[in-house]
Amino acid sequence: MKMLIDWMDDRVGIRGMLHEALYERVPGGARWRYVWGSTLVFTFLLQVITGFMLWSAYSPSTRTAWESVYFIQHEMFLGSIIRGLHHYAAQAMVVLMAIHLVQVVIDGAYKAPREVNFWLGIVLMMIVLGLSLTGYLLPWDQKGYYATQVTTNIMSVTPIVGAEVQTLAQGGNEYGHLTLTRFFAMHAGLLPASLVAFLALHIMVFRRHGLTVHDEKHAPDTTFWPDQVLKDAVACLAVLTAVLALAVLRPAELSAPADPAVKFDAARPEWYFLFLFRFLRFQAVEALGLTFGAIIVPGVIMGIIAVMPITARLLGNFGHFLNRAFIWLMAAGVVALTVLAAWEDANDSDHQAALAESHRDAKRAIELASGPDRIPVDGAVSLLRRDPFTQGPRLFAQHCSSCHRWNGHDGRGSLIRDAVADGAIGEAPYTLPVAADLGNFGSRDWMNGIVTDYSEHFRWIQNAGWYQDAVQRSADGEEVEFLNPAGSEMADWTSGMTESLLAEENSGNLKALIEFLASEAGHAQQEFDPALVELGRQLAIDGNWAGDLEGTSCAGCHDTIGEPFPETPDDSNASGYPTMAGYGSAAWLKDFIRHPDADRHYGSRNRMPAYGSDQLTDADLDLLVRWMTGDYSPTEVADYPNQLARLNAGLAGGTTTEAPAAAAAEE
Ligand code: HEC
Ligand code: HEC
Repeated sequence: MKMLIDWMDDRVGIRGMLHEALYERVPGGARWRYVWGSTLVFTFLLQVITGFMLWSAYSPSTRTAWESVYFIQHEMFLGSIIRGLHHYAAQAMVVLMAIHLVQVVIDGAYKAPREVNFWLGIVLMMIVLGLSLTGYLLPWDQKGYYATQVTTNIMSVTPIVGAEVQTLAQGGNEYGHLTLTRFFAMHAGLLPASLVAFLALHIMVFRRHGLTVHDEKHAPDTTFWPDQVLKDAVACLAVLTAVLALAVLRPAELSAPADPAVKFDAARPEWYFLFLFRFLRFQAVEALGLTFGAIIVPGVIMGIIAVMPITARLLGNFGHFLNRAFIWLMAAGVVALTVLAAWEDANDSDHQAALAESHRDAKRAIELASGPDRIPVDGAVSLLRRDPFTQGPRLFAQHCSSCHRWNGHDGRGSLIRDAVADGAIGEAPYTLPVAADLGNFGSRDWMNGIVTDYSEHFRWIQNAGWYQDAVQRSADGEEVEFLNPAGSEMADWTSGMTESLLAEENSGNLKALIEFLASEAGHAQQEFDPALVELGRQLAIDGNWAGDLEGTSCAGCHDTIGEPFPETPDDSNASGYPTMAGYGSAAWLKDFIRHPDADRHYGSRNRMPAYGSDQLTDADLDLLVRWMTGDYSPTEVADYPNQLARLNAGLAGGTTTEAPAAAAAEE
């Protein structure tokens, strides 16, 4: 060993170099307050190592970025740890940098003769922020895609050169594939290379002037090795432990594949930019424009920081006092705004709903990608686009929730509320549904509701404006045809029959009828008992009930009950009663949504808008119906919680108002 070192020393002077590096004098003794710079160098090294590992599996293009990050996160050996380390170390670097800056200012380490090094530090800070900004986009997921778009839009409002800067960063006029490749080139090439260069300068210059000693009399002088090195090593280890713990306990999220067609309401920048995001939302700041808030103010603040050495030089101790006051003020402001933004988000139910949906989409996308069909050749973005479980709720919320509800909510988990009047205090009342809650459509529950308590089953309809109007007009003696859960042929028939239907002697028969009706709807992922179904079919058609019910049958009115829904339905044989052929099945449902006003359905009683292909494309109709009938690949993602109880409780409190039925009907 000694021979080897001698050999090396002879040729490159290694001993002198080591001595120079390690025996730097530390006046006043080793101190914890000097460790920040070292932890930054350490996290940067960690980023370089994990970065290269990620790079070896990452593929930057709009069709492969998410896919390769998915591979890293969920398939590659140790991939999730490596990505987690990179993800959290990046955040640690920003925090450490902020601490380093504050520490440099309060210790006066920026003052002459260290001005140049202070400026080098500011350049380094900009590079690190650039790295985190560019890195956020690389997974090409919803979160990064939309947050980064906000940033490139901010670039465009830079005075004079804005448009050019944006085009340059974006790689053209459009935000897309070339943005990704450019950001990757910056993130893995230009920025780290500049960081290395400026870091080398920074350390060289630092060595030239040595530590800025905080308090020379703190302890006896020592040397860098071993005292300070030990403290630095402990600090670096602490950072590593924290980052590793986070990577293991809270794996970095990969949200759903970026989809320019799906607005992402939960978009937020990385948490350490939240303060700026919140600042931009102050009304006064908004009024002064984005250029003011996002470019001029931060520019001025950076300017003030950059001239700190000059301030201190001109004003002496008072200047140093001003600088310290300013940096503390900034730190407090950043912390306060971050806390405010987080607190507001936590209490914003719309944001929370959007966030919940984004986690749900993320989980579902990963579930589908790792499912038997894997990722389709046209890219992961079509995973969710073609998934009824993801699209169904959105289509329902968009087209149907103005009248119907899904387990009390709008399909996407939110209760619908009235618009709050200006100056009103407290939560807005729930908006009443004006048509059936379809959360259990086609299930045994649904069928049971129809045959045993028809009026109750369709009770929401009675809230509709048209319903009250029709009741009024009938009372005035006018002939009005409308669906009347409180008193139509069906309502009267079921209410007349309920007692014997629910009687002991028919309990087996009722069960069979329900089984038959549910099997006609035949929703996916359910099993039916064939013997029961057959018995139920006979009851529905022949009416071989026990007791008073004997001889009454559904087929007495609904003549097509028990038949499959026809391929090309027409109204030539319409009986005036809604068709029960394949009632509740996907084919029936598609036909009903397209033509609720056909005579085979509700005819002149209909009040639901007919959805032509210009309102709802065939593909969307298919997704909606497959979701309603449970026809999608099984999922571990929890359904939105049932809100019926809350809705009912809210209604019982008398806090609701009439839904705008007219506006809804225009949908
Ligand atoms: C303007 C209010 C309104 C909108 C919007 C609306 N519906 Fe309806 N829907 C009704 C009414 C009222 C009925 C009761 C029957 C009728 O009037 O045809 C109904 C009935 C239904 C039924 C039949 C329930 C049964 O067994 O009788 C289904 C299924 C249905 N709607 C699905 C949908 C779907 C899916 C959408 C969205 C694409 C939708 N509706 C949009 C008002 C609406
Ligand atoms: C006396 C005639 C009559 C009998 C018997 C009858 N229904 Fe009906 N049914 C109607 C009418 C009429 C409607 C249309 C709704 C209305 O006007 O209230 C209807 C509506 C329905 C609907 C809603 C249809 C839709 O398109 O959404 C279902 C489901 C239904 N009936 C099932 C049954 C079942 C099951 C039976 C047997 C247990 C039955 N009905 C027996 C007359 C009848």
